[in-house]
Amino acid sequence: MKTKLLTPDDIDEAADIIKRGGLVAIPTETVYGLAANAFNSEAVAKIFKAKGRPMDNPLIVHIAKTEQAETLTRCFPQAAQILADRFWPGPLTMILPKSDRVPCEVSAGLSTVAVRCPAHKTARELIAKSMPLAAPSANLSGSPSPTSAKHVMDDMDGRIDAVLDGGECDVGVESTVISLAYEIPRVLRPGGITIEEIREAIGETELDTAVMNPIRDGQTVSSPGMKYKHYAPKAKVILLRGEMDAFRRFVNSHADDGTAALCYAEDERYLSVPTICIGPSGDYAAQASMLFAALRECDECKYKTVYAHCPGTAGMGLALYNRIIRASGFEVIDIE
Ligand code: TXA
Ligand code: MG
Repeated sequence: MKTKLLTPDDIDEAADIIKRGGLVAIPTETVYGLAANAFNSEAVAKIFKAKGRPMDNPLIVHIAKTEQAETLTRCFPQAAQILADRFWPGPLTMILPKSDRVPCEVSAGLSTVAVRCPAHKTARELIAKSMPLAAPSANLSGSPSPTSAKHVMDDMDGRIDAVLDGGECDVGVESTVISLAYEIPRVLRPGGITIEEIREAIGETELDTAVMNPIRDGQTVSSPGMKYKHYAPKAKVILLRGEMDAFRRFVNSHADDGTAALCYAEDERYLSVPTICIGPSGDYAAQASMLFAALRECDECKYKTVYAHCPGTAGMGLALYNRIIRASGFEVIDIE
C-alpha cells in the first residue's frame, strides 16, 4: 500500500478515506493518532493489524463536541460533565459505560469505552466532516508515540492509507486517562491534564498503582495497555534517581562506548557522553513536548545505554515519570 502524505488542505480527501473504511494518521495536540471510523468494525480491525497491537487493548474514540459522547456511552455522570466543561476540548480521556453502538473491537470486549474530545483544529475538522474516530497513538506497538508526521511515516509508511500532516504536537505526551467507571474516579494514565487539576475540579480522585509501579504476574489491570511494554527504544534506558551533581558524576564515570544521557539543558556542558536534551530542568511542558522525539533519537543514534534523569512526580512531571520509567522497563538506580 502506498501511504499518501496529506496536508490540512486535503481534509476532504482524508474524510473520504475514513468513510470508505481506510486508515488516516491524524495530528492531535498530544500525539498523532491512527484513525478509523469508530462504528466500522472492519476498519477498526485494520488499526490493530497496522500497529501490531494486541487485540485486547481497547482504543479511544475521538469526538468533536461533548454531545457526541451521548451515542457512545450509556450514561454521562455529573463528574464527566464537569470534566468535559473544564477540560474539553483537550488532553483528557474519560472511560465510561459503553453503548451498544460502539463495536466490541473498539473496546476490546470491555463494557466501557474511552472517549476524548481533542483540541487540535485539524482533528476536529476531520471528525466534523466524517464521524467519531477510533484512534490509538500512530506508532508501531511498543515504540515511542509519534509527535510529528515524520515519526508516523517512519513507523507506518506502506501500512496505512494516509498521514495528515498537522505539524508537531504541542503537548507531546498522550492524554490523561481517567476512569469514571469506579466509585471513586481513578487516573489510569497521567498526561496533559494533571491529577491536581482533576482533583480541583471533581474532588477525590485515585491514582492507579500501575502508573508508578510495574505490573506483578497475575495482577488484574484497570487498563489493558498497562500490561504491555511501552515507549521503549532499542537502547537500554536506565533511570538515575538522585541530585543533579550525582547524575553528572555517575554518567561521566560510566562513559563507555555507545552510552548517552537523556538530560536537561543545564546538564549538557558537564557531561562527557553524547547528550539528548529534553529542555530546561524546571520546564515540564517543554520536556513533555520533546520526550518522545528524544526516545526516537536514541535509536537513530544507535546508542546502547541511555542514562536518564528521574523526573519529579508533581504536576506534568508525573506523566514524564510514567513514560520514562516504562521506557526503562522499571530499571532505576539510586545514585545517592
Ligand atoms: O492522547 C492520546 O490519548 C492519544 C491521541 C491519539 O488521542 N491516544 C492514545 O491512545 O494514546 P493509545 O491507544 O495509545 O492509549 C490509550 C490507552 C491504552 O493504554 C488503553 O489500554 C487505554 O487507553 N484504554 C482505552 N480504552 C479503555 C477502556 N475502555 N478501559 C481501560 N483502558 C482503556
Ligand atoms: Mg499508545
